[in-house]
Amino acid sequence: MPFPTRPRVPVRAALTALLLLAAVAACSGAAPNSIFHRHSDFNREIDVLWKLLIGLGTAVFIFVEGLLIVTLVKFRKREGQAEPEHVHGNTTLEILWTIIPAVILIVISIPTIRSIFNTQARASADALQVEVIGHQWWWEFKYPQYGVVTANELYLPIGRKVNFTLHTNDVLHSFWIPQLGGKRDLISNRTNYLWFTPDSVGSAAFNGFCAEYCGASHANMRFRTFTVTPAEFAEWTVHQAGAAVGTTVATATVATPTLATPADSNRPKHVPGGGKGDSAQVAMNAPAVTTPATAPAATPAGFTGYPISRVATSNVIPTTPLPAEIAFTDPYGNPARGATLFAQGQGGCIGCHAIKGVPSAMGNIGPNLTHVGSRLTLAAGLYAMDAKHLARWIKNAPVMKPGVIMPTLGVGQYNPVTKSKMTVGLDDQQIADIVAYLLTLK
Ligand code: CUA
Repeated sequence: MPFPTRPRVPVRAALTALLLLAAVAACSGAAPNSIFHRHSDFNREIDVLWKLLIGLGTAVFIFVEGLLIVTLVKFRKREGQAEPEHVHGNTTLEILWTIIPAVILIVISIPTIRSIFNTQARASADALQVEVIGHQWWWEFKYPQYGVVTANELYLPIGRKVNFTLHTNDVLHSFWIPQLGGKRDLISNRTNYLWFTPDSVGSAAFNGFCAEYCGASHANMRFRTFTVTPAEFAEWTVHQAGAAVGTTVATATVATPTLATPADSNRPKHVPGGGKGDSAQVAMNAPAVTTPATAPAATPAGFTGYPISRVATSNVIPTTPLPAEIAFTDPYGNPARGATLFAQGQGGCIGCHAIKGVPSAMGNIGPNLTHVGSRLTLAAGLYAMDAKHLARWIKNAPVMKPGVIMPTLGVGQYNPVTKSKMTVGLDDQQIADIVAYLLTLK
């Protein structure tokens, strides 16, 4: 059977068709991180420019390519044709193809310059101020107007302009929430600003990223943004500004019945579908919050839980699997015991982390853990926040996130930094207790 004379042609055609299909497929679907989902004034401003540029660009492309094809066909070489006439320039044509692009550039530049000035202008003083501090590899967020310090999770009220002040603690990073605003770099010894007004309809959750290569775990430097109603935001700030709501050292010697549940029930309340009144909510309302032991329950009046529990968050829950190389026996964790271990400095957590209401925990190297149990994610958006992931994280974080400062804490674990087995450290029971405690901190 003879081969086709040009077997490559159908192959090329098939490849082109496949590529086109892939391109079309890439444009469909939910695409939760697409910049084309515009949920702020900033992104809409960019969208106007994008449409103008893509429209004019397409028109120019069709015109030029059409002219090219017509020329190729009309003036192609023909048998017995005499040599064509040689010409040198055409003044009218040259003036035209200088003027037309100049006009197009002016049409593009006017709205572009206007947008640059609009988006670079300093936000008005009444804007919500959020200080963003980049760390290798996590995000610290401060709300100076409300006395709130948190990590890796931003809450923003819909309809209010938010002004981000961007700093880095170490190397260059870049702050980016594709659906809300453009990237802006965090530069050493310099303050950058970015502002926008979120306008999503109803509460929503968005992924955020570091968009500037910053080392081993650059790809693992993510965060979450939740847009909520102004009332929910007001509630959230009051709650976040307060001390941790959960188990405390003071309750360590007192059996707290609502907390005597299996560790798994201490997972964050606002997992998708999570609602009010589950066991974690009960734990959140447990008595005794701050030292001294006689302090009244600190659940702020009117606080009904995290607003984000009311929205679908499946687009922001990481699905990174449990690391198989960290064995953990998953014993039942006692939060009261965990609170004591933590406050006493077992494992050294208090050297790097702060918990409002726990005087011994004043560290500022790692994320503030005051309300850590309320967060959806762990390790800057890399893992889901639950007992299983948190336990393995505490046991051997460097295995779960390359280059992380959080050290290996599990006894018997291989420490990738010292390249040796840990002869001291926390055992599985101690880790489970600390995890159970941390997850009560709503
Ligand atoms: Cu921080 Cu990349």
